[in-house]
Amino acid sequence: MAKRIDVSDLNIYYGNFLAVEGVTVSIEPRSVTALIGPSGCGKSTFLRSLNRMHEVLPGARVEGKVSMDGQDLYAPDVDPVDVRRHIGMVFQRPNPFPTMSIYDNVAAGIRLNARKMKKNDLDDLVERSLLGANLWKEVKDRLTRPASGLSGGQQQRLCIARAIAVEPDVLLMDEPASALDPISTLAIEDLMTELKERFTIVIVTHNMQQAARVSEQTGFFNVAGAGQPGRLIEFNATEKIFSNPDEKATEDYISGRFG
Ligand SMILES: Nc1ncnc2c1ncn2[C@@H]1O[C@H](COP(=O)(O)OP(=O)(O)OP(=O)(O)O)[C@@H](O)[C@H]1O
Ligand SMILES: [Mg+2]
Repeated sequence: MAKRIDVSDLNIYYGNFLAVEGVTVSIEPRSVTALIGPSGCGKSTFLRSLNRMHEVLPGARVEGKVSMDGQDLYAPDVDPVDVRRHIGMVFQRPNPFPTMSIYDNVAAGIRLNARKMKKNDLDDLVERSLLGANLWKEVKDRLTRPASGLSGGQQQRLCIARAIAVEPDVLLMDEPASALDPISTLAIEDLMTELKERFTIVIVTHNMQQAARVSEQTGFFNVAGAGQPGRLIEFNATEKIFSNPDEKATEDYISGRFG
């Protein structure tokens, strides 16, 4: 079930360093939202704050509010593990469980969620998830081999398969196609288009064409200089961002005059 995310006045810290400042934004369900901006502006940091993955680093914390369908995700009685179950994530660097088999990597989330499933149903789900991530053909004959034997791009797709297998409400993808060839990239974009019927999707991408192709809404982050916090400069319909943005900084960035 796709859910809506509302962020208000969010500040994100690494220890004393304010990495992202004052983000207020609403992310619509059943749509793809793209986040763009130069390296170091806080896109990954912001993404990780949405499912409480940011705070796993010592000293990392947030101020402000993030809610999903009105529920405050940082309320004291909310279990961060539960949040991550509903808001899945594909990281910028692929992180499969290396010694675990390809099959078990995809099934890992389902098993963690303690969902009882018949072997046949689990087989089906693993196959569907791998098909969705455009990896099935390459791995169907080696499902029991360790994930560490896959190439970087294959590992990235394995992580995508693992994330979609649990059917999260929201799927966060940090540069999901950065290590992929053009065919897998298009397959992942097709997958996003299909998944947004059911999920809320937020992707970070450095690829403007990709943002323009897959997303309904785009957020542009920027940073004034080293040591300064990143800020959400503009959030608008993707069409508007790429044709007639409100902010000059957005236009400079997308037209390649900056960053
Ligand atoms: N673990 C960390 N500890 C301290 N500072 C960090 C940490 N991770 C990121 N930062 C800092 O936070 C800021 C935002 O980093 P972040 O990784 O979110 O940027 P980004 O927009 O995702 O960049 P890129 O496009 O290169 O992935 C940067 O100044 C970065 O150096
Ligand atoms: Mg990043």
